[in-house]
This record gives sequence, structure tokens and C-alpha cells, in this order.
Amino acid sequence: MQVSLIILAAGQGTRMNSDLPKVLHKLAAVPLLHHAMAAGRALDPARTVVVAGHGAEAVSRAARDYDEEALIVLQEEQLGTGHAVAQAAAHLADATGEVIVLYGDTPFIRPETLEAMLAARKDHAVVVLGFEARDPGRYGRLILDGDALQRIVEFKDATDEERAVTLCNSGVICASAKDLFGLVADLSNDNAAGEYYLTDIVALARARGLSAGVVTCPESETLGVNTRAQLAGAEAEFQRRARAEALENGVTLTAPETVFFALDTVIGRDAIVGPHVLFGPGVTIESGAEIKGFCHLEGAHVSRGADVGPFARLRPGAELAEDVHVGNFVEIKNAILDEGVKVGHLTYLGDAHVGEFTNIGAGTVTCNYDGVMKHRTEIGKRAFIGSDTMLVAPVTLGDGAMTGSGSVITQDVPAEALAIARARQETKPGLATRLMEKLRAVKAAKVKG
Ligand code: UD1
Ligand code: CA
Repeated sequence: MQVSLIILAAGQGTRMNSDLPKVLHKLAAVPLLHHAMAAGRALDPARTVVVAGHGAEAVSRAARDYDEEALIVLQEEQLGTGHAVAQAAAHLADATGEVIVLYGDTPFIRPETLEAMLAARKDHAVVVLGFEARDPGRYGRLILDGDALQRIVEFKDATDEERAVTLCNSGVICASAKDLFGLVADLSNDNAAGEYYLTDIVALARARGLSAGVVTCPESETLGVNTRAQLAGAEAEFQRRARAEALENGVTLTAPETVFFALDTVIGRDAIVGPHVLFGPGVTIESGAEIKGFCHLEGAHVSRGADVGPFARLRPGAELAEDVHVGNFVEIKNAILDEGVKVGHLTYLGDAHVGEFTNIGAGTVTCNYDGVMKHRTEIGKRAFIGSDTMLVAPVTLGDGAMTGSGSVITQDVPAEALAIARARQETKPGLATRLMEKLRAVKAAKVKG
């Protein structure tokens, strides 16, 4: 079955009190919008149309970041959810199969729920996702007629009797492309808000002899983000679920409530994650790797048997092969560390490749930036980099090469060579004592005078 998605993301999100469009606020380290797109992606959609309005340029960029093929339509004026869906007709009018409408600010809809809606389409032309609201507030109310859905009434337009209904509209709607665009084309804005309500397609469908039905899901799934407080609540909820899922999948979390995951974090079975670890986007930790406490990882891949931290930072492009050891106060960016490399302490490796079983001494720095451009450092296999070596890139060190501690390496070092680049030591017998005596005498004279 062919499925297309329409994701509504044109609203400003006034209650966020922000210059940033609401759907670009981050949840689990990625824009809110990506969460809705992720739920939809599980259905392998033929097309995904994002309806953008406020901050359209930034919203389209974020949409394409997630899915290069996402189609964007501009809804210049936000005249309502029905009007927003109608804008997508430009990209979908010729589409066959199903269309699912999602909201960019509703991050927790599960793919299984969308599947259930698609399945319910065999009984109904229009399928709406509803939920039993603990506090129905200003949600649209689903008015049933037996098992069938008769219409949806918005809070503003509802009678007291209708407001007493607790079965509410999540906003997610599914119909064939043909029916959906046929119905939204005929919406009117004759209502309390003066908007084209998508929800009115239910009554319109019924008037045309088409049936409508409801699929329900838990309220937690339909949680929408309208305020910063709700964003914080959604973050807490996301993390709660992600931690539970990691534990379920066989990951050890020694202090689960202090670990923060991104939407796309992947952690293998029998990996161990210590306290206060933060995963930014794009991290994969393979089975059996260990991330010790207080690490910050983003865009990094950690292979089996590797261990990282405590207090390490892996930035985008950090690629750690099997059994790599990265210790405390080490930062790795855009660098490949082959099998068995050890970087124990106080080091920065950026724009580099380190060959297998090389040891990087404490305090080593790849000086990769000359103020204008970035340059690469290439280190061979089984090399030994002395503590406090400055590797001024571009520079290449061969297999088995060595550097003396405190060296500033500005020239290539051939395989198996030892490079020392520091001032030669001079030792002056007795001078320490004589110098101290002299200084004490100077101080004593000052105190007297
Ligand atoms: C909508 C539903 C309501 C439901 C509630 C669930 C309608 C008329 N009402 O109300 O039944 O209970 O969601 O949260 O559909 N948007 C656009 N363009 C527009 C208007 C909205 O893209 O012109 C987007 C918004 O950015 C947002 C989504 O559509 O992502 C929902 O719009 P919003 O105004 O929040 O709808 P509600 O009033 O909450
Ligand atoms: Ca809303």
C-alpha cells in the first residue's frame, strides 16, 4: 500500500515565546519536527510533504536534514489546519493510496498506531486518531454515532454537552489522497475561529455518504508541545522511555536517570554507560563498549571493546575501532582511531588518523587549525607519541615512529624514527641553592627598609 505523509508545521508556536519556530525547538537533541518525520518514516512513505509557514526557510532546511527528499509547501497565511492540508495538494493531488496527516509539534506518535489507522481504512473512508483525555481542555471533541464518527467539534464551537465528551482529537487523520483533497477543497471557515478546520472533513465525508471511524491510542502518545514547560515535560518523557528501552535491550546504565539520549542514539547489547553521560545526535555504541561517567558524545561511533572516559568528549566524525581506549579529559573530533589505539589523558585529536596500537601520550595536541584552514595529522601504526607533543598539522608520522615528550613536531617523521623537537636541557650544579639564597636576601632587605 502506498502511503504519503503531510506534516503540518506552519504555526509560529506563540506560546513558546520564542524567535525560533516551534517545530525547530529541540527534543532529544533534534528538532521536534524530526520526531514526527521519524514516526512517519517507519511506514516507508512514497512522499513526505512538510507544510511550512513561520520560519519556512529554516523549517525546510531542518526537514531536508532529516529526509533529503522531503517536499516543502509554503502556507503563507495560517488559515487553519484544513487550509494547511489543502496546500499539500500541489505535491500530492496525483498521489494514489493513503495520506496520513501528522503535526510537527506532536512527537510521540508510534508507528504501530499509524499502522492501526491504515488498517482501519478498510472500514472507513476517514480515520481519526483519538484518545481519552484526562483533562480534555481545548481539544476537539469526537462525537460518535454508535461506533462511527459523526463529526469533530472544536472546543470553541462546542456546546456544554459536547464539551463534556472526553474522547478527543489528536489531530492525526488518515484518508485516501483522493478523498482527502476532495474534502479539504470544500471546507468553509464559518466557525468561531474563522479558520478552515481539517476536523470538519469528518462531517463533510458523512454528508457525502462516506464513513468515518476512530482509532484510539494512549494520551501520552498524543502529547503536543505548545509551551516551554511542555517541551521540558516531553524531554523528560522521551528520556524516561529511552532509558527503559536501553535497559530492556540489554544495556547497563549504572544511573539511568542521569543519562540523556538523542532520538537516533544506537547502543548495542552489553554496552555499559556510566553516570551523567550525554548523547547528542548521530551516536552509535557497539556491543560491549563502555562509556564511563560524564562523557559527552555526538556524531561518534564507538566499536566493540572500546572504552571512553570518564570526562571525555567525542565530537562529530570520531570513529573508534575495536578496543580503543580513550581516557579522561580527551577530545576527539573528525578523527579515526584504529584498533587498540590508546589515548589516555588530556589530549585533543582533530582531523587525524591514528594507526592501530599507537599510544598517544598525555597532553598531546593535534594543532589542526592555522586560524584560517584545518589540516590533517596522519600517525602510523604502533607509533609512540611522547607526552605533551604538539603535532602541527599538516604532518605525517610513519609506522613505529616516536616523539620525545614536549616536542613541537612541524616536520614529517619517517617510520621508526625518533623525533625530538625541544630545547636541550642544561644543568647547573648548586645554582638552585644560590639563587634561593639571593632571593631571600632581597626579600629580607625589603621588609627591613
Ligand atoms: C487541533 C485540532 C483539534 C485537536 C488538536 C490536537 C483542528 C481545527 N483542531 O487544534 O481538534 O484536538 O489540534 O492538538 O484541526 N498548523 C498549520 N497551519 C495552520 C494551522 C495550524 O500548519 O494554518 C499546524 C500548527 O503549526 C500545528 C498543527 O497544525 O502543528 C495544529 O495546529 P493548532 O493551531 O495547534 O491546532 P489546535 O488549535 O491545537
Ligand atoms: Ca495545538
